[in-house]
Amino acid sequence: MKAKTVKFSRVVMAHTMLPQDANPAGIVHGGVVMKHIDEAAGVVAVRHAGSNVVTASIDRLDFHNPIFIGNLLTAKACLNLVGKSSMEIGVRVEAEDLISGQIKHTASAYLTFVALDKNFRPQAIAPLEIITAEEKRRNAEAQIRRQARLSQKSKAKDCESRVDGCH
Ligand SMILES: CC(C)(COP(=O)(O)OP(=O)(O)OC[C@H]1O[C@@H](n2cnc3c(N)ncnc32)[C@H](O)[C@@H]1OP(=O)(O)O)[C@@H](O)C(=O)NCCC(=O)NCCS
Repeated sequence: MKAKTVKFSRVVMAHTMLPQDANPAGIVHGGVVMKHIDEAAGVVAVRHAGSNVVTASIDRLDFHNPIFIGNLLTAKACLNLVGKSSMEIGVRVEAEDLISGQIKHTASAYLTFVALDKNFRPQAIAPLEIITAEEKRRNAEAQIRRQARLSQKSKAKDCESRVDGCH
């Protein structure tokens, strides 16, 4: 399969925050921000994979600044790493006060998406062509996170086999 560049799939998506996105104090719900993060990352994943994809995991998510009704939420997403069937996508969310022009960093997240075949099983995808120094740095950092995720997943599997959860 021919490699695809980071530029090929990267996306910037913007949405005006409306009353239905927010709590009674006018602050946008965390879940709404998460939805926009997932959506932007999903666009990147489908573009690169050229197939259906699913969110396999979302790493830790911190909210640094509130977003208010009327703000413009912008989600910037691009690929950091491509495995055999999985992709790590980094998303940066900013909120712009359209009247003052002030832009604040709201959240950043790393998501792993997996490309699926017609039977909803993981399928191999095109490799990622890394070009710039920035892309190289992101890729190297993503390799470390991937290792951490894989070892966490195998520990969690161990626990699942021993613990019965809450009923
Ligand atoms: C994600 C999913 C396809 C993985 O299936 P699986 O049988 O565990 O797949 P495999 O073990 O063969 O792993 C396939 C790839 O996914 C990666 N992966 C699997 N689980 C992962 C996780 N929790 N976090 C990060 N990567 C994961 C593996 O590292 C592997 O990557 P690679 O092909 O690049 O080496 C499957 O668990 C699934 O369908 N989950 C539901 C997804 C969904 O519905 N999401 C929407 C929100 S609920």
